[in-house]
Amino acid sequence: MTTIIKNGTVVTADLTYKADVRIENGVITDIGQGLKGGAELDATGCYVMPGGIDPHTHLEMPFMGTYSADDFESGTRAALSGGTTMVVDFVLPGQGQGLMDAAQMWHNKSGRANCDYSYHMAVTWWGEKVWDGIAEAMGAGMTSFKHFMAYKGALMVNDDELFASFRRIGELGGLAMVHAENGDVVAELTAKLIAEGNTGPEGHAYSRPPQVEGEATNRAIMIADMAGVPLYVVHVSCEDAHEAIRRARQQGKRVWGEPLIQHLTLDESEYFHPDWDHAARRVMSPPFRNKQHQDSLWAGLMSGSLSVVATDHCAFTTEQKRFGLGNFAKIPNGTGGLEDRMPMLWTHGVATGRLTMNEFVAVTSTNIAKILNCYPKKGAVLVGADADLVVWDPEKEKTITAGKQQSSIDYNVFEGKTVKGLPRFTLTRGMVAIHDGEVKTQEGHGKFFAREPRPAINKALTQWKDLTAPRPVVRTGVPATGV
Ligand code: URP
Ligand code: ZN
Ligand code: ZN
Ligand code: ZN
Repeated sequence: MTTIIKNGTVVTADLTYKADVRIENGVITDIGQGLKGGAELDATGCYVMPGGIDPHTHLEMPFMGTYSADDFESGTRAALSGGTTMVVDFVLPGQGQGLMDAAQMWHNKSGRANCDYSYHMAVTWWGEKVWDGIAEAMGAGMTSFKHFMAYKGALMVNDDELFASFRRIGELGGLAMVHAENGDVVAELTAKLIAEGNTGPEGHAYSRPPQVEGEATNRAIMIADMAGVPLYVVHVSCEDAHEAIRRARQQGKRVWGEPLIQHLTLDESEYFHPDWDHAARRVMSPPFRNKQHQDSLWAGLMSGSLSVVATDHCAFTTEQKRFGLGNFAKIPNGTGGLEDRMPMLWTHGVATGRLTMNEFVAVTSTNIAKILNCYPKKGAVLVGADADLVVWDPEKEKTITAGKQQSSIDYNVFEGKTVKGLPRFTLTRGMVAIHDGEVKTQEGHGKFFAREPRPAINKALTQWKDLTAPRPVVRTGVPATGV
């Protein structure tokens, strides 16, 4: 099976050039002018880019008494439809459950995926079984570990557990990740708001102000530094958290921040909408913020202090959101975005001049492929890379509407927004899954991507710390001290 993408402009994280791309058996085998001999896909007027990688999804996730509504089939169909060719989902072990048992549960669900996927492991409790499980997960291709500093009484872990886990992950060459919000303070604020009659969705935003995120981000950075582990902060929503990450990076710490397309383009006014459903559908943690925080996130992407744009796709239907009628703390937390991340970021980032096309590729694909050690198999247009590609038509327009989306929920948080810049073709390992809005996905085509650890980065980090650690001065000409 040979396919040639003809007459397009290849856009990668560092280069823009005219070339055709030859694909054989799902892999890129040649890049150059005038390639011939195979089925042709016309890319005239289009950019040929690495398919998007969304490193933050929760498909069919058990959470807050229910399951997120998009599963690996509908979720990856939505992804491909919007130009994303790989997702990284979070395995969430229950309390007392072994990590590999939980991973098996995820493997049982993900067989239906339409595109390739990988997993992060979550550390949701602490004990010897988890200590062992971290090494096992690492050996089974899950080399990044998320810790929830929020969701007290459910997924949250405390500082001593964070420190123990971070040290273990650091020693083994893994990557620590955090959901950074001060869960104790959120729990207290939530109880107080409810007691005072603030039970609507706006209470959710009041219960999780930027300060609780900033504090937890600073704390996670400090603990990671003490433990000698690189750190990835998911869903960075505000200046308070961004400032902590920016400062850490300037100090030479290995810290990355991930804003979501939702926080970049939607703001807190959504929670004050008079329609309860409208507001509840947008309840997620951290909540949407004001324009100043949005500007900070955009500036972070422009300057490089923030590295990756994700979605945290965790979709619940209106019916599920209504579990929280009368008590915002019972509204399942999460929003969708898999289908819209790439077109929304192109429209609000590239078309406005805030991002170059190359920066767009970096933050939607290549940076995370490097951070998670999938590069250059993923996130690249290179000979030998998987043909996970998007042929991007910058002139193609649509207005986002739930009625036409792939996601199985009944609304879309970007409803009514017009986007310009959409896939003409999305290819998953050489297979055309999307052609001009026509969906040709194949259930079960997706494969698990097992990732290797990146010990070099952990070694560099600890080596430098050792070299610069305090040492006694060896003195001459002074009488020896002592008794
Ligand atoms: O509200 C959110 N973000 N739901 C998904 C779970 C998480 O915290 O990432
Ligand atoms: Zn989270
Ligand atoms: Zn999440
Ligand atoms: Zn066409």
